[in-house]
Amino acid sequence: MPHVPVPTRRAVLKTAIAALAAGLVPRAFAAEPLKIGLILPLTGPFASTGKQIEAACRLYMQRNGDSVAGRKVELIVKDDTGVAPETTKRIAQELVVQDKVTVLAGFGLTPLALAAAPVATQSKTPMVVMAAATSIITTKSPYIVRSGFTLPQVTWPIAEWAAKNGIKRPVTLVADYAPGLDAEKTFVTRFTSAGGKVVESLRVPLRNPDYAPFLQRAKDAKPDALFVFVPSGEGAAVMKQFADRGLKQAGVRMIGTGDVVDDDLLESMGDVAVGVVTSFHYSAAHKSPENQAYVEAFMKANHFRPNFHSVGGYDGMHLIYEAATKAGDGADGDKLVAAMKGMAWTSPRGPVSIDPATRDPIQTVYVRKVEMVDGKPWSIEFEKFDNVKDPGV
Ligand code: PHB
Repeated sequence: MPHVPVPTRRAVLKTAIAALAAGLVPRAFAAEPLKIGLILPLTGPFASTGKQIEAACRLYMQRNGDSVAGRKVELIVKDDTGVAPETTKRIAQELVVQDKVTVLAGFGLTPLALAAAPVATQSKTPMVVMAAATSIITTKSPYIVRSGFTLPQVTWPIAEWAAKNGIKRPVTLVADYAPGLDAEKTFVTRFTSAGGKVVESLRVPLRNPDYAPFLQRAKDAKPDALFVFVPSGEGAAVMKQFADRGLKQAGVRMIGTGDVVDDDLLESMGDVAVGVVTSFHYSAAHKSPENQAYVEAFMKANHFRPNFHSVGGYDGMHLIYEAATKAGDGADGDKLVAAMKGMAWTSPRGPVSIDPATRDPIQTVYVRKVEMVDGKPWSIEFEKFDNVKDPGV
């Protein structure tokens, strides 16, 4: 029999170290994967929210790598169809129990985020809310951290702007559910305390809305402005009725939060959107090197314009990556949430930090006007409010 030398333990170790150094053994094998369970409406009436956020999360991984702190990042994307809160809750439970996700993320609408909150609490799983924007959401679990925005945060600047810019008799029109009520209350309170008077407040059902009778009623009240909040995906339908009912010709200015001139739909709205003034935390036209690079990379990968929900998704991924790095080995849910509190960074939208007390973003809110630039409508920022916190309602 030929003599085969038995390698010494030291030789085995040397070979293993050399293999690791040469990258032959992926470092990710050394640690548990970081699994992100991303729950989004990818079909149904709010599919644009899911499409935007999924694209942004994938772009983040493309630009920043698919491993962090020695852990392989796995994105598990689930469609909750955006309608039934029980579905979102069941998916969250499955992701926690069966897939053993490290983090839950996404959440396209408020009722869906609220339904999943107890799952985050019971399983001590961080829950990054990227889209849903009612103020109270973060109070529903100590494991919720928000990367998007809140309605009161983005509503009061337009109320102040309207009061200072000659608007005297506005009507409000909101989707009749929690974020709409946040927007209505914030607008009415701020506008009234600035000395103005809101002549009528209209609420449109969230499900299968028909905006025509509401816009007719708004026109009949002879306002000088119409403040609008509808969730993203709905703006084009509102804008169509605004045009068809002749509100613009009747001298009514449309104002609102930026959801109504959502960058995902803005190009399809046409001329009627030109001149609409809104306050918001993100415009694809935001002028900064970070945003220019973001919009360019996003459009190259997806061939559509990124909207504010995309930035909520992109920054949510940033929070998760940075928290995993900061919390290091053995980071559990509590350590990851602790690492997210107070985190500050430069987003495509501008400077953002996470308020350690509320786990909501503190950010710049811009006042913008839709203008045609090179034949296309964009929300052009012209005034800003720095370091805006959620004021509550
Ligand atoms: C929400 O349901 O919280 C929500 C959805 C879409 C928006 C804003 C708020 O554009």
